[in-house]
Amino acid sequence: MPKPSSAFDLDQFLATRSATVNAALRRFLPTPATKPATIHQAMHYSLFAGGKRLRPALLLAAAEACGGTNVAALPLACAVECIHTYSLIHDDLPAMDNDDFRRGQPTNHKVFGEGIAILAGDGLLTQAFEIAAQAQSWPRYPHQTLILELARAAGSLQLVAGQVADLEAEGKKVSVAQLRYIHERKTSALLRCSARLGGMSANCPPAQLQALTDFGYHVGLAFQVMDDILDVTQTSEKLGKTAGKDLTSQKATYPALVGLEKSRRIAAQLTGKAFAALKVFHGRAVALEALAQFLLHRDY
Ligand code: IPE
Ligand code: IPE
Ligand code: MG
Ligand code: MG
Ligand code: MG
Repeated sequence: MPKPSSAFDLDQFLATRSATVNAALRRFLPTPATKPATIHQAMHYSLFAGGKRLRPALLLAAAEACGGTNVAALPLACAVECIHTYSLIHDDLPAMDNDDFRRGQPTNHKVFGEGIAILAGDGLLTQAFEIAAQAQSWPRYPHQTLILELARAAGSLQLVAGQVADLEAEGKKVSVAQLRYIHERKTSALLRCSARLGGMSANCPPAQLQALTDFGYHVGLAFQVMDDILDVTQTSEKLGKTAGKDLTSQKATYPALVGLEKSRRIAAQLTGKAFAALKVFHGRAVALEALAQFLLHRDY
């Protein structure tokens, strides 16, 4: 696996892009005081609780690799973060993973109650499409294409399908193929969508879009394998969510199915495939390379 250019400062990239995305999210969302205040407070609470902002970072990095600008990519970056945060609020509900901590704070339903948490998720999901509809349209990628891209990644054939399969796999013995199905949908679909939307926001040619699709797909799979590994190996403090939860909930995970060592090998292999997809950028995708490396070696 090629090492990313040592000149590239990923910490700086993540810090500046997070700040830009956070400022844009504050512009797009109704303020917490907007009536009905409870729902807007709940939406802000989870959105600004301190997520890593990896999907927006991926989207902006993909846009930059294609010669695009942050201005064009920013609404789409905000849209994917809204979808991601909605999915976390609902994922944590008692009827789903039943988690008390998220992003280092009590989960949305612990603070606002289940009814408002469900609605905060609904609000953020809908907000995503309102924001995406305000993104710039491109000759190759008109609004219809951008909205379709988001809707498909979030819908009942992708993210929602993965969450359904994840719930239905609890306590059951699943095959590697079934686990892959879950990971492709519940996690990889939105990361792949982020990479593709970044390219689309730069009006990228089809070959670059294909490369970003491959990259996002593999990085997305590696990301969930690492999430499963970290659940076993890290503390709750480090993760900002309850560690060891997958085992107690009898979740289908890579460590449970193939062990930690093999899980790490799989994550590295998937990252290698993600790197290989970037060939078409001839070294101009340094931020994407650095992000993929970081996602593989992260400890939170
Ligand atoms: C957690 O995603 C949910 C998964 C898909 C594994 P992140 O690890 O990106 O969570 P935040 O956004 O940093 O809180
Ligand atoms: C969450 O997967 C995937 C989505 C929210 C779509 P997990 O259930 O493994 O995520 P964590 O571990 O709660 O963050
Ligand atoms: Mg879950
Ligand atoms: Mg969960
Ligand atoms: Mg997890």
